[in-house]
Amino acid sequence: MGFLSRKKKNREPAVLEETHPLEEELQGMEEAVPERAANDYEPEFQDDIDVTVPTAGPVPDEGSSSSQAAGEDPSSAPPADEAAPSDAESPAAAVEEEEPEATAPASGVEVGSLRVEEALNGAGKADDDDEPGDARMKAVDLIAPTRLDFLKPQQEVEPEQPVDQPDVIAFANQKGGVAKTTTTLNLAVAFAESGYRVLCIDLDPQGNLTMSQGIDPDKVEHSLYDVLVNDMPISEIIVEREIDIAVASIDLAGAEIAMSTKIGRERTLEKALKEVAADYDFVCIDTPPSLGLLTINALTAANKVIVPVQCEYLSMRGLVQLQNTLRMIQENLNPDVRIEGILPTMLDTRTIHAKEAVEILEENFGDLVFQSRIRKAIKFAEAPVKGASVLKYDSESSAASYYRDLAKEVLANGSA
Ligand SMILES: Nc1ncnc2c1ncn2[C@@H]1O[C@H](COP(=O)(O)OP(=O)(O)OP(=O)(O)O)[C@@H](O)[C@H]1O
Ligand SMILES: [Mg+2]
Repeated sequence: MGFLSRKKKNREPAVLEETHPLEEELQGMEEAVPERAANDYEPEFQDDIDVTVPTAGPVPDEGSSSSQAAGEDPSSAPPADEAAPSDAESPAAAVEEEEPEATAPASGVEVGSLRVEEALNGAGKADDDDEPGDARMKAVDLIAPTRLDFLKPQQEVEPEQPVDQPDVIAFANQKGGVAKTTTTLNLAVAFAESGYRVLCIDLDPQGNLTMSQGIDPDKVEHSLYDVLVNDMPISEIIVEREIDIAVASIDLAGAEIAMSTKIGRERTLEKALKEVAADYDFVCIDTPPSLGLLTINALTAANKVIVPVQCEYLSMRGLVQLQNTLRMIQENLNPDVRIEGILPTMLDTRTIHAKEAVEILEENFGDLVFQSRIRKAIKFAEAPVKGASVLKYDSESSAASYYRDLAKEVLANGSA
């Protein structure tokens, strides 16, 4: 039995003739407690009224069936509510079947006040009716108003203040020894020389980047392992050197397995970086020579990827696999990540093979290949031994200029 129908019957004698005795009793109760309920109760209940009426009332189908059964003009019925449920189990459908004499919708306030009255008077009649709508409005619902919280108007949420996001660049290539670490460090230092605030992240269990800054990965107390596995704030493992560096340790090798059962394991680094996002213009992530969970964390946290490629034919074969991984990341985890550029490294311009390798790169990847070239130089092998970048180790060397040129090119492409 529907509230709307009862209300209508109370007002129209023609319908009352067919009314069940319970309805008359209900009418008596309503008169004993007149319109008071509509105005006197808590605002959240008023919210309930407005929300409930369109879906619980018989409005939608009256024009097509109920009104016609009562001999009324269907055209006078209110427009059908698209949101009203139409299956037989829905409250609206139940009302239609049981109360064909219902002729017009009551207002939301009337419906609401009737519900309040029933609830305050014990709702005994409503219980007899077995209607879903009645069951929702038992007194217990009013005693526990928090259950109606979802009906309250949404509080205006203050827009978040835009935070300057750093450019997060992952240096990735699953092939080993192609100058990922060398490029991460020296490009980062070149950015820092230009006045940018730079954080390097050593996501490689080999700890080569950490070592390149004179830090022994075997002796660090806490490392990215603690950040990724134990949710330690990343600020606690950042060490200041030429640039700030979030250090690796050998136990990072166990991080992939330790993280494997973690919910959101691919986004762990991305989340950790939020803590320090406002402190840096660039975050440069060195990755291991694999496409495992650590590299996936880097690609998920990054918005750009730089792919160092040794200028040898065999080194370029893995690029297709890297592209596939990146596509998977874009589709599932990070739609914003893109390849910033492919960087030919360890270029020996004296060999024809190296020249051909660069040509093959450009033919296949076009503009994605950086204009900058990182040529072979012994200084790149010497500098890490001194715990320094090439830019610090021999600032005036041509080796240092390769990475300064690369920094200019990246900045010109619109970074930071
Ligand atoms: N332009 C260069 N000229 C000569 N040697 C270089 C150059 N760049 C890097 N190297 C040397 O090549 C070796 C490998 O470089 P690097 O460690 O940067 O590669 P990687 O891709 O990080 O290796 P891995 O995959 O093992 O992490 C290092 O000894 C480094 O000093
Ligand atoms: Mg490396």
